[in-house]
Amino acid sequence: MDRFVIKGPTPLVGEIAIGGAKNAVLPLMAAALLARGETIIENVPDLVDVRFFMTILEELGAVCNFENSRLTIDTTHQDGCNAPYDLVRKMRASIYVLGPLLAYHGEARVSLPGGCAWGPRPVNLHLDAMQALGAELDLDEGYIVGKTKGRLQGTRFRFEPVSVGASANILMAAVLAEGVTELENCAVEPEVTGLAEALVRSGAKIEGIGTNTMRIEGVNEIAPLKHRVMADRIEAGTFMAGVAMTGGRVTMSRVNPSHLRSVVSVLLDLGCEIIEDEDLITVEMDRRPKRIEVVTRPYPGFPTDMQAQIMAVCALADGTSFMTDSIYNDRFTHVSELNRLGADIRLDGNKATIFGSEKLQGAPVMATDLRASAALVLAGAAAEGTTEVNRVYHIDRGYEKIEVRLAALGANIKRESY
Ligand code: UD1
Repeated sequence: MDRFVIKGPTPLVGEIAIGGAKNAVLPLMAAALLARGETIIENVPDLVDVRFFMTILEELGAVCNFENSRLTIDTTHQDGCNAPYDLVRKMRASIYVLGPLLAYHGEARVSLPGGCAWGPRPVNLHLDAMQALGAELDLDEGYIVGKTKGRLQGTRFRFEPVSVGASANILMAAVLAEGVTELENCAVEPEVTGLAEALVRSGAKIEGIGTNTMRIEGVNEIAPLKHRVMADRIEAGTFMAGVAMTGGRVTMSRVNPSHLRSVVSVLLDLGCEIIEDEDLITVEMDRRPKRIEVVTRPYPGFPTDMQAQIMAVCALADGTSFMTDSIYNDRFTHVSELNRLGADIRLDGNKATIFGSEKLQGAPVMATDLRASAALVLAGAAAEGTTEVNRVYHIDRGYEKIEVRLAALGANIKRESY
């Protein structure tokens, strides 16, 4: 296993290019199963989750090749429909293969993903919507076993609550269904919109992209996808939060500022200066962060995937901040670890009260999920003394070489194997 050893505090200064978005590339990879031939995806980040999704596609009979940020998925001879527990349990996004398999092959056997570090995370909407499309689903020894009589059938389905994963999964399935599907209360996260745009370029008929209501007219077939993955707004937001904590000035290139509105607004409230220019965002911070109040919401609201990193900034703020996660009630594994670094954070249900401290003190910490790990790494760069962040495989799932990139910005951070 690996850990990061971080000596702080050091300001972050310099320039960094943001990579392709993890949450955008995973559904695109699943969508390769909707067509025969070679899907080509560019600007793919080299992440554990991407490599992992490749093994699932290969298990299903696709041939993947990943070099220099370019991923090809050849489905010419893809005929498997079984996504086994050993693979699915490692990554919830594996459920994305359910819609494409049912739509293309009329059958699927996909392990139920199970819980994760922040609670039960149900998949009822994925299942209900597939049934609404006419799939017959059974649960058999922990597996979702699905069959269709002929093609899936267009339907009307309302997501309650809004779900990124279910919106993407049903969208993919509906593209090859017979007739019209109307989806209400869809997620409008850029990653869902990007998927819909990629599908349309391959021949899918989708109206209402980027709105809460999508109308999909099923087609008989689509061509393999050719798509360039959008910039990772959460990766960009994480580096921005780092500057807010440590002070300094960092310019992020290859970003899409329009995807970062709610994050920028919170950074401004914290006291950062922000300059935007086409695909560049510069963040500068030369003061102690101000106190803030934030509630996570579906896009275009403030993302739950930034909650932990911004909470780490609040730990150093001048005053008492409040952070409520309205998407996940118990996504707070970072709280006790930040408190080990000298933060003073108290939890009441899904609301955290963060009493700002003047400084944090390095300590060994351990994270149990991806964004919580990122928050601890940032806190380590801002804390005095040495912080060890253990079990960094969580962070490798969603950030490419984060230690190399933070070191290039002036952080004193090293990876050690133990
Ligand atoms: C995706 C992101 C994750 C992000 C989350 C919320 C990927 C691979 N992951 O996860 O990083 O934190 O969106 O922005 O893109 N829900 C149900 N039933 C369901 C599905 C979801 O009740 O069948 C609930 C969840 O418990 C949660 C809410 O809906 O309260 C939103 O979850 P969802 O948007 O589905 O998250 P994911 O797609 O799993």
